[in-house]
Amino acid sequence: MTPIPSFQPLALAAAAGPFLPPRASTDAGPVDTVFNMIFWICAAFLALILALTLRFVLKYRRRRFRGAEETPTHNTKLELLWTGIPLVLVFVIYGTAAAAYLDMTEGRAPQKQIQVTARKWSWWFDHPEGKGSNELHVVVGQRVELVMSAEDVLHSLYIPAFRVKQDLVPGRYTKLRFEPTMPGTYPIYCAEYCGENHSRMLTQVVVHADQAAYAKWVAQSAYEDSMPLIDVGKQVYETRGCLSCHSLDGTPRAGPTFKGLWGKTESFTDGSSATVDENYVRQSVIEPQAKIVSGFGAVMPPTPLDERELAGIIELVKSVKD
Ligand code: CUA
Repeated sequence: MTPIPSFQPLALAAAAGPFLPPRASTDAGPVDTVFNMIFWICAAFLALILALTLRFVLKYRRRRFRGAEETPTHNTKLELLWTGIPLVLVFVIYGTAAAAYLDMTEGRAPQKQIQVTARKWSWWFDHPEGKGSNELHVVVGQRVELVMSAEDVLHSLYIPAFRVKQDLVPGRYTKLRFEPTMPGTYPIYCAEYCGENHSRMLTQVVVHADQAAYAKWVAQSAYEDSMPLIDVGKQVYETRGCLSCHSLDGTPRAGPTFKGLWGKTESFTDGSSATVDENYVRQSVIEPQAKIVSGFGAVMPPTPLDERELAGIIELVKSVKD
């Protein structure tokens, strides 16, 4: 079991008050703005409602020698007011949150992709330099995209210091982007109940101060090494029969070549089309009959691969972009 990681002094310098973790990514500020806005709106309304309750309790308390009172049944001005103000508040909250969310998911393109595999009850991070680890390693100022999948049940990767959280779903890839702003070590939690040891599914993200520090970590050969994803991909390609129908250099064979395939828009025999991305490649391996590329026959058998083998094939297709 990974011990609960401790915060580092530098991280504490960017503390976001006594109730929130340190802010260690570019998304932390905007997320906290939305959080604080909702919090203070709720606090203000709580105070208002409590004060009015108290006032009415006193004003309309039971008194002797007092007959029935004429009470108004309708007040248009008041009704417009209590509809209008919340409406404006909801739009302001929505606008601020949507802007932060879009920047998080669609903003600046990532400079690096890291493959994440979750299973009961551990994490595995395949870094692009061919380095596998049960810890995530990133660099300050480098925007990262995690491409994530789960081997068994739903998990959710949650980094409170970065204010990001995303589910990992068996059978497909989900993505999460962030840009660390401060060196340090921050906890990673699983935020989706996944069985007995869910609460122990902990690890950490190490944010290196610069590329040199990161390169030093990569070079530590004795540390948690595994076969790089690209080599896993080549092995699968050669041993599971991919090579007999799919070339890597553009040579025509029974199936589409992998060369230049990544990011291309493929047209299918049923008239539909799709961009070649992680989920497309995954489906093409597991259920090849689902989408037949125009001009090719439906001859490929379904090929069951495990998560790392699938990720390896995807790396291989990416590596022969053009
Ligand atoms: Cu994995 Cu909870």
